[in-house]
Amino acid sequence: MKICILGGTGNMGTGLAIRWAVNHEIFIGSRSLEKAQGIAENLRKLALGFYQNELKGSFTGLENADALKEAEIVVVTLPPKATIAVMTALREHLREDQIIVTTVVPMRRRKRLFYFSSLGKDVQDRSAAEIIQEIVDPIRVVTAFQTVPAPYLSNIDAVLNLDVLVAGDDDIAVTIVSKLVRDIPNLRPLKVGPLVNSKFIEAITPLLLNAAVLNGLHEPSIRIVPWFPLD
Ligand SMILES: NC(=O)c1ccc[n+]([C@@H]2O[C@H](COP(=O)([O-])OP(=O)(O)OC[C@H]3O[C@@H](n4cnc5c(N)ncnc54)[C@H](OP(=O)(O)O)[C@@H]3O)[C@@H](O)[C@H]2O)c1
Repeated sequence: MKICILGGTGNMGTGLAIRWAVNHEIFIGSRSLEKAQGIAENLRKLALGFYQNELKGSFTGLENADALKEAEIVVVTLPPKATIAVMTALREHLREDQIIVTTVVPMRRRKRLFYFSSLGKDVQDRSAAEIIQEIVDPIRVVTAFQTVPAPYLSNIDAVLNLDVLVAGDDDIAVTIVSKLVRDIPNLRPLKVGPLVNSKFIEAITPLLLNAAVLNGLHEPSIRIVPWFPLD
């Protein structure tokens, strides 16, 4: 597939890009064309070294608005604070046939601990996914990857069996995104219902980070047991 990653030069963006590029065309989006091109070239070298002949995909670095032009999937890996402004500015460039995947976790840190903190001022319990949906409506939005630590994605040969909770209102879009999750070895997509459930998914991440801080864990994630393979 053609996958654009907005804010694709960051931790999550580069992690997803290096994993998906084995089979997909990746468009790295950035505020800076030069930065996007540099990251795309670095990822290409890394992927070629690791996947060798199995590398079927590609990396192209572009400014965010250009990166999403050809894409079927647009992945939002922007910092929470930048998400509303960037998605509002890019709205006119998006197409109705595209699927938006949000990885955004709206949270803030107070002293040692992390708290869910909505992107919206007057809507404290609204998820980032629902706020993005309002901006891009009627384009389909799907939530995924909030509980996957970026360092795990970037470490290409790391093997961890993790679950990825996937929420969205459109069954076809959720199925397509679930397939993209499964394209990353050892990640298992679990559908958890409509987009309104995103607030529960997004709220798991501050909980995991607090578990890490308070119990000395490193890059915690989730797996729902028992683990039965899906057909
Ligand atoms: N890191 C994780 O382990 C992790 C795990 C799960 C979910 N998430 C979520 O995924 C999202 C991305 O996290 P991340 O750690 O990858 O973030 P990040 O590395 O801090 O930032 C991602 C990219 O966003 C762009 N950016 C930064 N400030 C911006 C601004 N003011 N306006 C527009 N673009 C801006 C930058 O790209 P350019 O400078 O190239 O424009 C940056 O490379 C976050 O919402 C986070 O909550 C992160």
